[in-house]
Amino acid sequence: MLFKDIIRKKRDGGELTDDEIQIFVDGLATESLPAEQVSSLAMAICLNSMSFDEAAILTSKMALSGTVLDWNAEALDGPVVDKHSTGGVGDKVSFLLAPIAAACGCYVPMISGRGLGHTGGTTDKIESIPGYNAMPDFETFRRVVKEVGCAVIGQTPELAPADRRLYAIRDVTGTVESVPLITASILSKKIAAGLGGLVMDVKVGTGAFMTTIERARELSTSIINTAANLGVRTHTLITDMNEVLGTTAGNALEIEESVLFLRNQQRETRLNEVVMGLCAEMLLVGGIEEDRDAAARMCDEAVTSGHAAEVFDRMVNALGGPADFVADYSQYLARAPVVRQVHATGTVTAMNTRAVGGAIIELGGGRHVVGEKLDLSVGFSNIAPIGTELDGETPLAVIHAASEDAAAAAEKHLLEAVSLGDKAPPATPVIHEILTG
Ligand code: URA
Repeated sequence: MLFKDIIRKKRDGGELTDDEIQIFVDGLATESLPAEQVSSLAMAICLNSMSFDEAAILTSKMALSGTVLDWNAEALDGPVVDKHSTGGVGDKVSFLLAPIAAACGCYVPMISGRGLGHTGGTTDKIESIPGYNAMPDFETFRRVVKEVGCAVIGQTPELAPADRRLYAIRDVTGTVESVPLITASILSKKIAAGLGGLVMDVKVGTGAFMTTIERARELSTSIINTAANLGVRTHTLITDMNEVLGTTAGNALEIEESVLFLRNQQRETRLNEVVMGLCAEMLLVGGIEEDRDAAARMCDEAVTSGHAAEVFDRMVNALGGPADFVADYSQYLARAPVVRQVHATGTVTAMNTRAVGGAIIELGGGRHVVGEKLDLSVGFSNIAPIGTELDGETPLAVIHAASEDAAAAAEKHLLEAVSLGDKAPPATPVIHEILTG
């Protein structure tokens, strides 16, 4: 069968067969399909979608395109659970949640992605820590999860290799925003990681791939049902992405904010709510707690006691990073040579968060083409949340850039991305809905 006939079938709205999907997945995993054919089919799927059955077949074949981990042999004394986000701007939840959940008794083998479209990637961010090996061999990954309780790594060539290739091509071809492609991408990695339970953070808003609550619900339902079909219990939180999450956006800057959170020094309200909400849900899915409020208290205690920070330090060190990272992060993280404040007048009323993500790519913190090397030091810090009244003192944000020209361009992009008015808009919830299937 010619692959172009499969593309034509999907282009014309047809339903792909098991065999046709297998050809696609094999071609991705062996890298024998050229990028132009992969991106054409991805675009046809984006435009014409897939049935539930097609998406389920794609998901399981992508999961089986590489090694599938089995934790039974490790005789772990707690549940193997994870969380995954559909992607946002300033989303540093994984660095907090993995050690907090581990401190509460979960095992979290977190296989994360690189930047996708306008969103930053967990794998890129964690690589801001010097020495940290985000691509360890399986033995190391297993050992760290078993001994420390969590390991945040990237997608190694053995795990769901079909997704690895498709993800990199979707990143630069405008083919991210598709419910079946996102479902298959996320769940293939999670099934390959051998999870017993999953919590999904489905983002909605101007910085999310799903910009309306209806689309976020559609994606949540697709993920919950497909995961159930494949034996993974999944709960979903639909969370707000109408503004940057936390106060920073950019790789090393987000790691710094995460450390300050784990040290219980700076816990921005919306970020804290999302982290505690997702983490509590992980304890429910994993059967560690039955009551949501009690689970949230347990997660909070893991931070205030310093236990989660200790777990994070042990994970960093076990994966090749410094032993004293939490205490001494500032001596390790890359710093941009140009750091300057952006000022404006008025009250922040709205944010085109996707455009803020785009500005980070332009600064060098995200990719234009597959495989591009990133400048991990750049981005924004001190980002004023919606509702902030800006005065001469309070900046809209602080830019971290490689040059004065790059900083000037970022300032222009940021000012275009933010709406200013006379008064703060009504506050909106950060957790919109919890779906348990
Ligand atoms: N995260 C993923 O791993 N894949 C997607 O397609 C979107 C978010």
